[in-house]
Amino acid sequence: MRKLQNIMVTGGCGFIGSNFIHYLFEDTGFDGRVINVDKLTYAGNPANLVRIEQKYGGTRYFFERVDIVDFDALDAVFDKYDIDTVIHFAAESHVDRSIHGPKAFIRTNVLGTFNLLEQARKRWRPGDGRHFHHISTDEVYGSAEPGDYFYETTAYSPRSPYSASKAAADHLVRSYANTYGLSTTVTIASNNYGPYQFPEKLLPLMINNMLEEKPLPVYGDGMNVRDWLYVGDHCSAVWMVAVHGKSGQTYNAGGENEWTNIELVQRLCGIMEAKTGKTPGHYKRLITFVKDRPGHDRRYALNCDKIKKQIGWKQSVDFEEGLDKTVDWYLNNRQWVENVKTGEYREWIRKNYSI
Ligand code: NAD
Ligand code: DAU
Repeated sequence: MRKLQNIMVTGGCGFIGSNFIHYLFEDTGFDGRVINVDKLTYAGNPANLVRIEQKYGGTRYFFERVDIVDFDALDAVFDKYDIDTVIHFAAESHVDRSIHGPKAFIRTNVLGTFNLLEQARKRWRPGDGRHFHHISTDEVYGSAEPGDYFYETTAYSPRSPYSASKAAADHLVRSYANTYGLSTTVTIASNNYGPYQFPEKLLPLMINNMLEEKPLPVYGDGMNVRDWLYVGDHCSAVWMVAVHGKSGQTYNAGGENEWTNIELVQRLCGIMEAKTGKTPGHYKRLITFVKDRPGHDRRYALNCDKIKKQIGWKQSVDFEEGLDKTVDWYLNNRQWVENVKTGEYREWIRKNYSI
């Protein structure tokens, strides 16, 4: 068991990173410090962490607006806080954007990960208790045939610029364990859903379009399959592996909860119709099949035996409950969606961070 105290969380203002920081402070008994390193791209929103900032800001929570591609800026942060742990979420994360403009993905996901590893290698020594945990995605394994599952031993076969950049990062992380004896672990997760997800991703985009009575764009035939994991369960997997995982190892953490996109969107329509008092079918009529995503992977499916048996992790939120909580969050936080869409939160950032 590792005692992790001065934790650099990269990408802590994004969807999963901000959920993770809440989880760490509020649900784990963690008593150390978190240094949130985030560049604040379009996807990073420090307003996600207001509660944490108010309670722990300046004592146990620190925000550093830093691009992980900037080696010198990272150097200063590692020195200033005597970082003993990196939990690395920061990434360009949206597949469609990687198709439109892959360069930012190579820059952040590959070069940024390399810089963090180099910073750790420069300072840390094998056996000194310091640890690097990297967050990855089921997309690195490629597309699964019906009935097949991805194991930690499955050969990588990334098929989009996003997944190729994440695969490169994973290989770099493992190579630092093997070559330099750096203590590292990797978790590989499936599609996350929950609060604070940027409304470019399937679920929040659909909820938002329903509320605006806009078409609900389903790519291709809608039969692509994704495995849905509640974000809180992903956070617990990351923390348990960072604390208990064996160095050099990778652990799959999925929802074991597969849905075709069309089934999921239809289900979401039903929930939204019930919650907003609309007649059955009101939102379903907005479903529109559109041109497919280029290179669209058909199915992802993780086998999670290893993390369950070796770490003792399991999912705690079932899909009905998770979807219900997620829809309620978006209905109760309309202003959050408006802010990230309109860029109003950028004003908040400028005011609060003197940027
Ligand atoms: P996100 O896009 O919501 O957030 C990414 C965060 O990283 C943002 O706060 C952004 O400002 C920050 N960032 C981007 N480039 C940066 C840079 N150069 N320097 C510093 N900060 C930078 O992403 P997310 O959905 O929260 O995903 C987090 C991690 O989890 C990613 O590594 C992603 O690959 C992985 N992952 C995501 C999912 C999912 O379903 N969302 C599933 C599996 C794995
Ligand atoms: O599998 C894990 C991955 O899940 C993460 O690594 C990525 O960071 C995360 O973005 C997510 O990738 P996907 O491409 O699966 O997520 P997205 O929400 O973009 O799309 C989910 C599915 O829905 C996918 O099959 C494409 C489809 N889709 C998506 C959008 C945005 C639509 O049919 N219509 C849409 O408008």
